[in-house]
Amino acid sequence: MLLVDLVRERFAAALNQMGLDGTSLSQRVTAVRDTQFGDYQANLAMSLTKQLGIQDPMQIAQDIVQRVDLSGLCEPAEIAPRGFINLKLKNSTISKALNEVAQSNRLAVHPVAKPRTYVVDYSSPNVAKPMHVGHIRSTVIGDAIAKILKFLGHKVITDNHLGDWGTQFGMIIYGYKHFLDPAAFAADPVPELSRLYRVVHQLIDWQSTEKELPKTKLAVEKAEEKLAKVQAEFGAVAATDKKAKRSIEDAQKELKNHQEKLKKLEDTTEARKQQPDLSSACDKHPDLETRVLQETAKLHAGDAENKALWDQFLPLCLESIHHIYDRLDIQFDMELGESYFHNRLGPLVQRLLDNGMAKISEGAVCVFLNGFEVPMLIRKQDGAYLYATTDLATIEYRVETFKPDAILYVVDHRQGDHFSKLFATAKQIGYDQLELNHVSFGTVLGKDGKPYKTRSGSVVGLEPLLDEAIERAFQVVESLPIPTEEKREVAQTVGLGAIKYADLVHNRTSDYVFDLEKMVRLDGHTSAYIQYSYARTCSILRNAGISMSEPIAPEVDFVLDHSAERTLALMLLKFEEVLLHVTNDYMPNLLADYLYDVSKSYSSFFEQCPVIKAETEALKQSRLALCQLTGRTIKQGLELLGINVVDRM
Ligand code: ARG
Repeated sequence: MLLVDLVRERFAAALNQMGLDGTSLSQRVTAVRDTQFGDYQANLAMSLTKQLGIQDPMQIAQDIVQRVDLSGLCEPAEIAPRGFINLKLKNSTISKALNEVAQSNRLAVHPVAKPRTYVVDYSSPNVAKPMHVGHIRSTVIGDAIAKILKFLGHKVITDNHLGDWGTQFGMIIYGYKHFLDPAAFAADPVPELSRLYRVVHQLIDWQSTEKELPKTKLAVEKAEEKLAKVQAEFGAVAATDKKAKRSIEDAQKELKNHQEKLKKLEDTTEARKQQPDLSSACDKHPDLETRVLQETAKLHAGDAENKALWDQFLPLCLESIHHIYDRLDIQFDMELGESYFHNRLGPLVQRLLDNGMAKISEGAVCVFLNGFEVPMLIRKQDGAYLYATTDLATIEYRVETFKPDAILYVVDHRQGDHFSKLFATAKQIGYDQLELNHVSFGTVLGKDGKPYKTRSGSVVGLEPLLDEAIERAFQVVESLPIPTEEKREVAQTVGLGAIKYADLVHNRTSDYVFDLEKMVRLDGHTSAYIQYSYARTCSILRNAGISMSEPIAPEVDFVLDHSAERTLALMLLKFEEVLLHVTNDYMPNLLADYLYDVSKSYSSFFEQCPVIKAETEALKQSRLALCQLTGRTIKQGLELLGINVVDRM
């Protein structure tokens, strides 16, 4: 049991005696950040004055303290002004708990009492286009969440829901038929397919620019007129009249938005001029978006030529994506792409029509949702199915096959609307006992604050990025006193760890700036720092002739007289609690932060407490055991984040 729960249990008993709801009230015993006055604080008395009809919180606190039996667990409780109760764990309590951790091969993390079955849908790239830095977030966050849930004893099925059936394939099929460079394709097909994707994407973008440009010019003119009008009307009084001022500001903002959009479109038009060949291709393939949709529709309808192309392209695309997963050491239990569900879509829609859950509206099939203005479209007028239809069929399949308690979708926040509608639809059609959760995440930004791009402006491919991280890590580890032959391997571990850690350490819901130089630093909030701390624990154990994996003794008596020892010990005891917190809201950053805190506590312990030269043998043993537990906690923790360690760096 968690230490904090042991303390809570004692409080619950006392509070029950007082006729109160001990179980829920005892949750107000929490760990404190600043341990100057104790390790925990019970914040109870002030909120109970009314209920108990006692005005003075000090009196209530005294009453609680008299009743609560903390023997063998805490030092006598102390009451602070306003009835806060400060609690300090006995060193013997900490030592005993630590010993339990030291003896356990899972660091005394108990499997949860009620294991659940989870399907975790993550990574899930659209395979016909090159994977980019954005995909790494889903991959890394999803992998960490799955590993942590598994470690806690849940049943976890990881599923890479590949986008292998959508418009992107229509794009490369169209590209293949019209823009192929056969020699390039013969030499190395995947880069050629990527090029075709980019060409078609570019042409579609130019065509939409052409369409948007006159509209946007008009919008700018209108916004200018509006601003002039508002200024004429309110300009004189704007200094004193708030409403007038706001009207002018609003009109200015509107104009600025249209101008910015116009500027972007004009820049695109300008850039197009630099590519006359492509530009003339653009004119020769008008309305390309529709043509691409037609190719996609033909594929879905079983057209022999398109199906053969798809059969040829898919394995190539998969191979290149798997190469990246191999480098990142990511494996999935299943990889059922969208194509796998194609045959389920028709019957699913028909069933929903038959049982009245879906309705035909203007030729399309919709599910009308409570609380949503717009219904969920599941079949278009032209008979085409949608992303949402496939997702519904996938839920159906997952429920049939795995009977999960929860399905987690680790997907970009921009798909938030899709998922809220999808989940509402799923509930309405009968999946109301299932936890459906969009574990969303923010955007990876460049230093300019815009979505991360290379200098040439295209989105960065993943492989060169991994290479660069490893190269930068190599520059950092170059100066370390390790054998040259090990340096490459260390750089590999540090570089890949850096990319993963940077992704995990930020609260997933926020955007973050991708800065490789910062990520590999040994002295920053980085995995390199944590890996370095691990290597230090290894080094000290090596010097003492002790292995990392075997407990130092069948029973370790931890001496915790120095505050740095005690702080480190308490930090190590938090591991289980941190893992449980991660799974509350699927926030792996809590574990990433925790491992950094462990490393910092270790560093200050190491500076202040001699280990090999400790004053007594007993103290030396205790400190060695602390080093070992630190190392094991870091190793296990990083492993759950998908990050490796090295013994020497
Ligand atoms: N392939 C989609 C994309 O790249 C993500 C799929 C997420 N998973 C899902 N079941 N919808 O945008």
